[in-house]
Amino acid sequence: MDDKEEKSMDVPAIKLINVNKEFPGVKALQNVSFDIDKGKTHCIVGENGAGKSTLMKILSGAYTPDSGDIIVDGEKASIKSPADSIRLGIGIVYQELSNFSNLTVAKNLFANNLPHKKGLIDYGKLNTDARKVLDNAGLTYIDETAAMKDISLGSQQMVEIAKLLSLDIKIMILDEPTSALTEVEINKLYSLIQELKEKGITIIYISHKLNEILYLADNITVLKDGNHVGTFKKTPETTKETLVRLMVGRDVAYDYKVGTSKIGEEILAVKNLTSGTTVRDVSFSLKRGEILGIAGLEGSGRTELLESIFGWRSVSQGEILINNKKVKINSPMDAKKNKLAFITKERKVQGLFLSLDVRKNIAAASTRRFRKKGLVNVGLMAENAKKYIDAMGIKVSGLNQLTMNLSGGNQQKVLLSMWLTADPDIILIDEPTRGVDVGAKAEIHNLLRDLTKEGKAIIIVSSEMPEIMASCDRILVMHEGQITGELSNAEATEEMIMKYASGV
Ligand SMILES: Nc1ncnc2c1ncn2[C@@H]1O[C@H](COP(=O)(O)OP(=O)(O)OP(=O)(O)O)[C@@H](O)[C@H]1O
Ligand SMILES: [Mg+2]
Repeated sequence: MDDKEEKSMDVPAIKLINVNKEFPGVKALQNVSFDIDKGKTHCIVGENGAGKSTLMKILSGAYTPDSGDIIVDGEKASIKSPADSIRLGIGIVYQELSNFSNLTVAKNLFANNLPHKKGLIDYGKLNTDARKVLDNAGLTYIDETAAMKDISLGSQQMVEIAKLLSLDIKIMILDEPTSALTEVEINKLYSLIQELKEKGITIIYISHKLNEILYLADNITVLKDGNHVGTFKKTPETTKETLVRLMVGRDVAYDYKVGTSKIGEEILAVKNLTSGTTVRDVSFSLKRGEILGIAGLEGSGRTELLESIFGWRSVSQGEILINNKKVKINSPMDAKKNKLAFITKERKVQGLFLSLDVRKNIAAASTRRFRKKGLVNVGLMAENAKKYIDAMGIKVSGLNQLTMNLSGGNQQKVLLSMWLTADPDIILIDEPTRGVDVGAKAEIHNLLRDLTKEGKAIIIVSSEMPEIMASCDRILVMHEGQITGELSNAEATEEMIMKYASGV
């Protein structure tokens, strides 16, 4: 290494100086200054709405800062568009996926430079090149000719990562990349990150999973309410508690109070429920006051089971009893009439009305309740929305903030509020705290526990084992569409759940 090269390793990959960004009613970033070292994994943590994604969007050219300097590799950069950012060697995979879902994987990979022959798209070359890009990233199982919308959310995420790898990227930004990935995909991503680091690429990584941060990080930056709290090297002394304290400003109590609600009568009975090959002969019962967890690997039929109960997916066999009465649920409408609610994991596609404001979203599943003599009672809607904003600490600039402008975790809380407003008796929740920060996770779990004290019953599907074990009174484990095990909270260990989940 000559002197010049040595010096260039000392220059940070990115130096941020007093970066500011304001949205109507929100100071998203205030005088944020810190360095991102070259060739390191730099993790950024902070509560929902802390400003993490905003800062990344400034680096990717999606937003321009109001003021401040960004120095890339020692030179002052002017990032006014995504093209500017790519020219500087910065690539990003956004928190909310932004692909062309009707186009094939191959077309998504080469969206900006489709190969042509005689004025037409050269599909042969396109698909061969796409295959190479996928194979290079270890994604041999993804079909380059499939439409994006037909592959899993996790695979879509991996395609976007592979796309970045095919470009000449020096800095790779991953904004909550693992929230939709399976265990296998997560491990693949970790090894990709290791390879990239060995090539000297700088990784900027955002996540609410603190275990993941402690595993991956060389350096960590904490943001809070748009302010830079600190940037430090991860050492063996860095613990989850240290991070939580810096992020939240206090200790978070992980006291989920399992077993504190009175278990009452059976409210739901599912008998021999079958839907195609994804849900096979499933039977179980749920009692008032109970939080029932459904664990299992991705693809084990957990989500499909909830969809079948909610009338979203056609059922070929079996019956559902609510309060000991047989009910017919052929559509979500039928389900709602039977006082069921379903909070899906794909809030962007199913669930939220992104172009409507927060107040209307929270009222959206109970419109009749907010109507008086044919008129919408805005005051009542506002009052209800405020109740949930306080209870869950939803970060909004006002009741009329558009839902699409909320941070990811805050969108999740709005979706939850929408369904709780409908006052269901039985609540089905798929990944209740995906993308939600540690403090809010505890708040959501406490809120669910309080609901069971009113005699409601809850089913939680989660891929986060600690979440299932900490919050559920009883746990069912699924494998290949069937229930392979049942455990009480006291009996459950990660090993036992894994054993049933893998079908041994
Ligand atoms: N386009 C926008 N218009 C208005 N407000 C916005 C916009 N984008 C972000 N905000 C606001 O800026 C703040 C920071 O949001 P940001 O998305 O950066 O948070 P985050 O740290 O990424 O949170 P999360 O962990 O939930 O993803 C929030 O209060 C958010 O509502
Ligand atoms: Mg974000």
